[in-house]
Amino acid sequence: MATNATPFPHRISTKDQYFEAWKMAHDKPQEFWGDIAGSYQWMKPWQKVQSGDFNDLDIKWFEGATLNITANCLDRHLEERGDKTAVIWEANDPKEAPITYTYKELHAEVCRFANVLKDRGVKKGDRVVFYMSMVPELLTGVLACARIGAIHSVVFGGFSAQALAGRIQDCEASMVITCDEAYRGNKTIPLKAITDEALESCTTVKDVLVRKRTGGSITMKEGRDHDLLPMIEKASSDCAPEEMQAEDPLFILYTSGSTGKPKGLMHTTAGYMVWAGYTFNNVFQMDEEDIYWCTADIGWITGHSYITYGPLLNGATTLMFEGVPTYPDAGRFWEVVDKFKVTHFYTAPTAIRALQAMDIELVRKHDLSSLKVLGSVGEPINEEAWEWYNKEVGKERCPIVDTWWQTETGGIMITSLAGVTESVPAHATYPMPGVNTDLVDNEGNIIEGNPAEGNLCVHNPWPGMARTIWGNHERYKETYFTTYPGKYFTGDGARRDNEGRYRITGRVDDVINVSGHRIGTAEVEDAINEHPSVVESAVVGFPHDIKGQGIYAYVICQPGVEKTAEELKPELNEIINKVIGPIAKPDVIQPVSGLPKTRSGKIMRRILRKIAAKDLKDLGDTSTLLNPEIVDEIKKGAGL
Ligand code: WTA
Repeated sequence: MATNATPFPHRISTKDQYFEAWKMAHDKPQEFWGDIAGSYQWMKPWQKVQSGDFNDLDIKWFEGATLNITANCLDRHLEERGDKTAVIWEANDPKEAPITYTYKELHAEVCRFANVLKDRGVKKGDRVVFYMSMVPELLTGVLACARIGAIHSVVFGGFSAQALAGRIQDCEASMVITCDEAYRGNKTIPLKAITDEALESCTTVKDVLVRKRTGGSITMKEGRDHDLLPMIEKASSDCAPEEMQAEDPLFILYTSGSTGKPKGLMHTTAGYMVWAGYTFNNVFQMDEEDIYWCTADIGWITGHSYITYGPLLNGATTLMFEGVPTYPDAGRFWEVVDKFKVTHFYTAPTAIRALQAMDIELVRKHDLSSLKVLGSVGEPINEEAWEWYNKEVGKERCPIVDTWWQTETGGIMITSLAGVTESVPAHATYPMPGVNTDLVDNEGNIIEGNPAEGNLCVHNPWPGMARTIWGNHERYKETYFTTYPGKYFTGDGARRDNEGRYRITGRVDDVINVSGHRIGTAEVEDAINEHPSVVESAVVGFPHDIKGQGIYAYVICQPGVEKTAEELKPELNEIINKVIGPIAKPDVIQPVSGLPKTRSGKIMRRILRKIAAKDLKDLGDTSTLLNPEIVDEIKKGAGL
């Protein structure tokens, strides 16, 4: 059953083929996905392509098969593209030389790293947490885990010690891999010191591997902490891939939801591989010699599926960038595109809007003629940003793929296919083959016909879906499958046009999307409520020109405590930095004496969202509130 890497099998090349593929995947999913999976390398074949449904939630893909995803990302390419560049790494500082790895070199490096893990006793099924910046060892380390069957869990380097500790404890990691410090523009972030603080409360971690990057001063704990690079250098580059069951966990990635603490979404090996590989191949439509750059961080799902696994499964050249879009100046993205002749560029609307607000010469002075395809991900892209991206970056000759998906979905779900199906401003457009979408009203009735607007659901299992929440399958069922029984509820709202193309309108639950980062309002409220003078708080999102959404916090202080927003701000920011990290800091804080509540005591967030958005139209009937008078006070406090 083992096959060699044929370049781009199952590539959809015309719009008709897209509709045929979608229909085939809909009508005969087992045949469809069995055929796609046939182009990967398996150690043992599967007995059944798919089993389980959204009622039993015991979903399995390619059961019985065994494989190793890194054999598919690396070994499979060695014969045909061993000397092709697999990874280009560009440093934070443009004066520092980039590093490139051919497929052969990457293979050797991953094997060496895998041997380091083995030497430290890491085994199949163990959890390894990464808390790093975008250094090459983040990518090779993740693959090294997959090589030996350890489960990686990457925590974004912007999270706090407490947030890191919560994740380490939740997955009971035995190892943490970090850097001494991270470079981020002209700043450094003390990752090792934060890790040390986190580990004070973690009992499961035996080893910490430290990738020295800045040479900044750190303390190394005898017996626990080890210097990573010399260990990699000494290790053997020979490491056979571990034989994994199709449904063995590949990774856990934490993300915020509308309630409670972050959820560790668990992705498994075979289905995720097929989904990441298939979607990358078809969405981006790369040629063999193209250069692909996704600007995400590997700490988020986009960096897992579309910096690491998707491109490597397809034998592509993937660029990994350590820095930020504004350092040394706001032309950095375009300078990097020019420097490496990037053909496929994938970024977030928030970056586009931020760069759009800068001097246009920062874009125009760079040669962007290498670009062929542009991508957008992470939040709805507004029409203005879409038009600017199309005109100034793509020079009106590059299709834009607006890709809608989630940590839960593993890979892209709704998008146009570059140059194959049409790009429509601000529209994700068509579901991928294998994705059967419904719009439902709040009662769960399917809204038939076009145009339509409602809550976005998917009613069939797809290979890349997360299988569970680590350690809490009940919560997984409860969160995603009970709102509309038998359906996966995305938490997003969407509109469908006359052609059946989707436009995502944003979250309809209590999740806010700040600069493409998912933040649960409940998490921010919990942090704010830790302030000794705070009695209660309510956090909502509001439209923000650059970030997409900003964070607006209404805060009730204890009687007798008269704090202004200015006084509260530094105190609350300090707590939020400690509990979550700087990404969750509120943009606006408004002290209030009460919150609008229903007679059953529920906060009327709809009213708070309207006031935060300075939109008093359709405020609705407030007379049925427990405390209707509070609305006027809050409006006044907001300057309305
Ligand atoms: C939002 C990121 C509109 C959406 C891959 C989703 C989008 C959440 C788009 C998931 C898009 C992502 N258009 N909204 N193209 N892509 N979103 O888990 O609200 O970090 O539910 O995954 O981002 O965020 P996550």
